Amino acid sequence: MSSPNVIVVGATGAVGQVFLRIMEQRNFPVNQLRLCASPRSIGKRLRVFGEEIAVEATSPEIFDDADFAFISASTAVSRELVPVAAQHGAFVIDDSSAYRMDPRVPLVVPEINPEDLEWHQNISAIPNCSTTQMVMALYPLHRANPIQRIIADTFQAVSGTGNLAMAELREQSRLLLDGGSVSPSVYPHQIAFNVLPHIEPFMEDGYTREEQKMLYETRKIMHAPDIAVSATCVRVPVYISHSEAVHVEFQHPMSPEEARELLSAFPGVVVVDDPKANLYPLAIDAAGRDEVFVGRLRRDSSHPNGLAMWIVSDNLRKGAATNAIQIAEEVVKRELLKPRR
Ligand SMILES: NC(=O)c1ccc[n+]([C@@H]2O[C@H](COP(=O)([O-])OP(=O)(O)OC[C@H]3O[C@@H](n4cnc5c(N)ncnc54)[C@H](OP(=O)(O)O)[C@@H]3O)[C@@H](O)[C@H]2O)c1
Repeated sequence: MSSPNVIVVGATGAVGQVFLRIMEQRNFPVNQLRLCASPRSIGKRLRVFGEEIAVEATSPEIFDDADFAFISASTAVSRELVPVAAQHGAFVIDDSSAYRMDPRVPLVVPEINPEDLEWHQNISAIPNCSTTQMVMALYPLHRANPIQRIIADTFQAVSGTGNLAMAELREQSRLLLDGGSVSPSVYPHQIAFNVLPHIEPFMEDGYTREEQKMLYETRKIMHAPDIAVSATCVRVPVYISHSEAVHVEFQHPMSPEEARELLSAFPGVVVVDDPKANLYPLAIDAAGRDEVFVGRLRRDSSHPNGLAMWIVSDNLRKGAATNAIQIAEEVVKRELLKPRR
């Protein structure tokens, strides 16, 4: 087919901006590119592929000629726009949580379950950023030795909440270093020089919605309906890249050496694991990279079939924009795009 027409909704956002740069870096083929954001950004000009493109308002008609619609705004916006875009014939790749658990919507990490795209109904979702990097590191191990149980503690960057949260961390840090005080607005508490064990609302069972996503999304992506996941998701004053301390219980014992071998052979995963030389994955090193970095691999001394590890990845790239573009590339490769009407 000829190059697709593409619409990016949320083009001015933390993910949207990175998405445009990755589209250029990967030379994603585009015929016509249209950019949308909230009413306050209409008319703003963004430079993509060497051209200035004006941000437009979203409307049902805008999707008429679109082959791909990347929607990266909010759950509320996605609930409204995703079905409209799909009905107008666009293949929608949705970054929000709105449709991830919908049984008609494939939830895809292309290195793991690209074949799920075959049953698409014009919509695919990307997982939550903390889930994506965890399944990237665990799936190659799970294939060799089924995982029974996962305990995950995350250390999540503020860019996971978007542009406003990044601005809040910058502003609070400046005020506090100048001896002033702060009044939080994005988060319920001060985020600068602090750690918040609270991402998304608390649910009936005491977990947060973010923590529940790590359970249900992992099961769906890995086709492992019985896997148990207990997560504690924590916001830390880091700009980019989520870090995760993950403890895994397998069906049979797995040595750290075997895990390193399996992980090194898996596309998109890099093992950085030489603690004696102070080498382990770091948020600042992962920022700007597409890979998922794994280190601190060791036997879990609390369980004979257990392994512990440290997983780090750029939440805006593999956790969102890169994964979305990889899905589009996979759709094109598998010729799953419906012909333009
Ligand atoms: N950040 C991450 O690491 C990450 C990872 C995975 C998934 N996601 C998901 O990706 C989505 C975007 O997140 P983000 O971090 O990029 O948020 P963000 O920085 O707050 O950006 C939100 C974007 O949505 C636009 N927008 C807001 N209301 C809109 C409307 N009514 N119509 C059209 N566009 C509208 C905003 O436009 P204005 O600039 O005009 O306000 C902006 O471009 C969210 O669904 C999020 O859950 C984020």
